[in-house]
Amino acid sequence: MTDHDRKPGFATTCIHAGQEPEPVTGAVTVPIFQTSTYVQEAFGKPRDGYEYARTKNPTRLALEKQLAALEGGAVAHAFASGMAAETTLMLAFVKAGDHVLVSRNTYGGTYRFFSKVLANFGVTFAYVDTTDAEAVRKAVTPATRMLFVETPTNPTMEISDLAALAAVAKEEGKKLGEKIRVVVDNTFATPFFQKPLALGCDVVVHSTTKYLNGHSDSVGGAVICADAADGAKIGFTQNAAGGILSPFDSFLVSRGIKTLPVRMKAHDTNGRAVAAWLSRHPKVLKVFYPGLPGHPGHAVAGRQMSGFGGMISFDLGSEAAARRLLDRVVICALGESLGGVESLISHPATMTHASVEPEERIRRGITPGLVRVSVGIEDVEDILADLSRALEGV
Ligand SMILES: Cc1ncc(COP(=O)(O)O)c(C=O)c1O
Repeated sequence: MTDHDRKPGFATTCIHAGQEPEPVTGAVTVPIFQTSTYVQEAFGKPRDGYEYARTKNPTRLALEKQLAALEGGAVAHAFASGMAAETTLMLAFVKAGDHVLVSRNTYGGTYRFFSKVLANFGVTFAYVDTTDAEAVRKAVTPATRMLFVETPTNPTMEISDLAALAAVAKEEGKKLGEKIRVVVDNTFATPFFQKPLALGCDVVVHSTTKYLNGHSDSVGGAVICADAADGAKIGFTQNAAGGILSPFDSFLVSRGIKTLPVRMKAHDTNGRAVAAWLSRHPKVLKVFYPGLPGHPGHAVAGRQMSGFGGMISFDLGSEAAARRLLDRVVICALGESLGGVESLISHPATMTHASVEPEERIRRGITPGLVRVSVGIEDVEDILADLSRALEGV
């Protein structure tokens, strides 16, 4: 291969994919096409498929091309939130009577949507330990049509082997004469660290609210399909159901993605340092971070991810201890969400995972003393000093 044949690298793709200069003025940044409709050239002659902005918008399309290139997919679609992306995903790919296998430690909102909304429409869900591919194989039923995997999971950072799960889904689907789609929520890792489609999975979903946008100023979601026909189904359902991302938010997410590689490297450097520091702290009972050698998913994470990122959970033993820490931090902002440049800290049991029943929460390791920190890209010495000061009060 000569230099001339070189495929663009990841950072180049983040900056250039879908981001062609605007044809009228040459504007280097894709403009925010804040329009609901388009004037047609003549009766029955819309311009390049632009008829109505729910169906197609140039700012959203630019982001969708960028997202497809980042994940190595055929087609991407951008939605008003991560949950809107999941809603369209499920409307497109499952129907009454179908059975879906789900990572047992999936995000609380995903669990709520599946178990408290979709279950009312005749879809059944089984929450399985996806860190064990053979347990997943055993859980397949004749009605299984999807395996929904989150890795690392929110908040206990469980790691599932995506290549092994894709192989199980393919083999079991073949026996059934049906396709079992493997869908991966890649929100935590981002395509900078993990590429599920390259590992044989079929679909990636994102809450772009998190690392892809990266600046805590937009709520959005995405579905990226390896297969163009699957992508067309998502596009059809998106247009039918309507949960699209706005032009302004599409602009923000595209802009955020351009710095994804530099941000993720910084999150990873700070994340490793904070996890190592917490694991030595006498008041911290346990640290959940796949970058630590003692983490059960360390070897798989080392194989399928190119970094460990900035998400860490740790157990302080009681809700009272967690409360004391969370009331004392200053730089680590107490709030839901994650993946922004600023460090965010939360209490999963009462915040992100409050919708999960108490017994189920404990089963998933979401104890009253568990604290989750999304390590930002501030100076790491300041983050450590903040946590150190706050832990003194615990
Ligand atoms: C892993 C994961 N998936 C999906 C979602 C839902 O995304 P949104 O909040 O953008 O609807 C979240 C939100 O926290 C998340 O953490």
